[in-house]
Amino acid sequence: VITKVKARQILDSRGIPTVEVDLHTNKGVFRASVPSGDSSGMYEAVELRDGDKGVYLGNGVAKAVKNINDKISEALVGMDPTLQSQIDQAMIDLDKTEKKGELGANAILAVPLYRHIADLYGKVSPMLPVPAFTVISGGKHAGNNLAIQEIMILPTGANRFVEALQMGTETYHHLKAVITEKYGTHDCNVGESGGFAPNEAIRRAGYTDKIQIALDVAATNFCIGTRYDLDFKSPQKSGQNFLSAEDMVELYRELCNDFPIVSIEDPFDKEDWEHIKRFSSTGICQVVGDDLLMSNVKRIERAILEYACNALLLKINQVGTVTEVIEVVKQAKEAHWGVVTSHRCGETIDSFIADLSVGLSVGQIKAGAPCRGERLEKYIQLLRIEEELGDQAVYCGVDWKQ
Ligand code: PGA
Ligand code: ZN
Repeated sequence: VITKVKARQILDSRGIPTVEVDLHTNKGVFRASVPSGDSSGMYEAVELRDGDKGVYLGNGVAKAVKNINDKISEALVGMDPTLQSQIDQAMIDLDKTEKKGELGANAILAVPLYRHIADLYGKVSPMLPVPAFTVISGGKHAGNNLAIQEIMILPTGANRFVEALQMGTETYHHLKAVITEKYGTHDCNVGESGGFAPNEAIRRAGYTDKIQIALDVAATNFCIGTRYDLDFKSPQKSGQNFLSAEDMVELYRELCNDFPIVSIEDPFDKEDWEHIKRFSSTGICQVVGDDLLMSNVKRIERAILEYACNALLLKINQVGTVTEVIEVVKQAKEAHWGVVTSHRCGETIDSFIADLSVGLSVGQIKAGAPCRGERLEKYIQLLRIEEELGDQAVYCGVDWKQ
């Protein structure tokens, strides 16, 4: 039984305030915290920030913390922590708004959750997801000229998660060597070199055919009107290398032909439903909706009906409660979509998404590069889970689309 709920303000991996909660029960204290991202859209659950410019530049979360310590705590003390849907419903009832603006989704999600996600989902056997390791960052995430936000590698040919982690990490280190040799020590040049380097690194690491490539284009960030500015980050060249949406389809086609690219996230602007539909219908690769969907039930519904994409990028803090996360995953799976559980750019050391991805057998997880504590914690938690499951452990591998 829950005896006390205590929240505090901590900092995420970017040094921006976020919420941590200690859930006291008669079986001990459980701790969890909430991530945060850049690409917040109007359809996702509300991240409640104080807005007092004098404190952490307006990013403080004192109100969310207070909501937990006062209102959520009062509602949850005395409840059984394993009754997930009752707990989530109690918090939703308390908020009363559609996007959780009253209490803040950062306040609602941080309440720690028991590990029986697979039971909550019902009759799935837990499976370890294929990790998508970020090996090159561009877009809004990096100080180079690369328009594409992320280039990732997927060790689909591994037999176990532990092997996938090794393969991904070795390739990541080979990639550093390839980039230094070919383009000098300034990885800014990666912008010019695009995705050639990962292919070379996979070959050098000896994993050709066992590691595939995924892209997060995040094209919304460089869509100007109906065109895409591939040099949007280069002040001198911005506006000179425009591609039409049709040109973008052609570019993706060529890239998928030349490299083992199996998945592309947000290939077009988030409101460009027409071209994303057209691209998905080519069947060239998995098409993931992140900015397109914002993990929003209504946008997912529309995308399913219109065959706009065929995979969901699941950011749990865009949804708000575990019960609703499970509903969203069911919705995606019923449409035979892929599901990618995702971290946010602003992360904490909380590894809940690792447990979630196994419990729901989603098949794919993206949690950044195999470096930096807050990213590694998710991958290391997957190692622990695999170890704990022992002979029962199943790694999705080539069945990553589930
Ligand atoms: P975020 O998104 O920066 O909003 O966390 C990362 C992504 O685009 O996948
Ligand atoms: Zn994305």
